[in-house]
Amino acid sequence: MKGIFQPDLLVGRVALVTGGGTGLGLETATLLASLGAHVVIAGRRTEVAQEAAESIVGQGHRASALQVDVRDYPQVEGAIARIVQEQGGLDILINNAAGNFRCNTEELTPNGWRTIIDIDLNGTFNCSHAAFEALSKSKHVGRIVSIITSYAWSGWPGCAPAASAKAGIQSLMRTLAVEWGNRNILCNTVAPGAIGDTEGARRIHEDAGRGAHELSRVPVGRFGSRADIAAAVTYLVSDAGRYVNGTDLVVDGGRQFCFGTA
Ligand code: COA
Repeated sequence: MKGIFQPDLLVGRVALVTGGGTGLGLETATLLASLGAHVVIAGRRTEVAQEAAESIVGQGHRASALQVDVRDYPQVEGAIARIVQEQGGLDILINNAAGNFRCNTEELTPNGWRTIIDIDLNGTFNCSHAAFEALSKSKHVGRIVSIITSYAWSGWPGCAPAASAKAGIQSLMRTLAVEWGNRNILCNTVAPGAIGDTEGARRIHEDAGRGAHELSRVPVGRFGSRADIAAAVTYLVSDAGRYVNGTDLVVDGGRQFCFGTA
């Protein structure tokens, strides 16, 4: 994807990617860094975040790592204060950290429900809220992109907590788009469909033995790739996306209109 964008597209920007140590988060962090941003990888597991940052630095780009559990507001606040102090500000927040598992709702425990809502929805609130002041001072117009999923509006059997949390995030981003549009911050979501090379797809499709079935429902005839999502995020945080606010960029090969989920 690198050659698609101008190599200096994001020079001078500082980006925080939560859950940036693996999967979609790492792919996005790597692309943003390759286009000139300093990327801070935030993750629960220090070694994973550190390794990701080192791999980006090893490719000749700028990155650092911070241990952050997005459920812990004081920890999030501290991380953002440190980024501002060390990097001089914050321009881009990618709310990517998420948890998910497949479990029929009648078998789900209240703590199972709470755990996913806490990581996905409360974590997105925590990071967006704590980043407000820094983003509002961005010279490049502050951006928040939250990664949701197209089943935020279709629902998904066995994924009630994640579907509900992502629907909540969608509503939060729309609300903040209106509240913060005149405070120098644009808020949007990217909604991936089935992305073949991710932990999420493994849990939702392959482990459930429905990979081939799901593929038959994707009009373009292939699963998405992590690179497809990273490119969509990059568009939204670049100058090309400077009039896009409060929208959902659905990257699912048309899956949302191929009705039926189960
Ligand atoms: N099925 C049912 N319940 C589950 C579960 C599963 N597969 N995995 C966890 N839970 C429940 C636990 O039983 C527990 O509830 P209980 O105390 O009532 O038993 C609760 O969720 C918390 O589990 P715990 O393991 O303590 O939480 P955690 O903070 O370590 O996070 C995950 C667990 C599953 C949220 C986390 O490990 C995760 O999501 N990892 C994968 C990340 C991922 O897939 N990302 C892509 C998202 S699309």
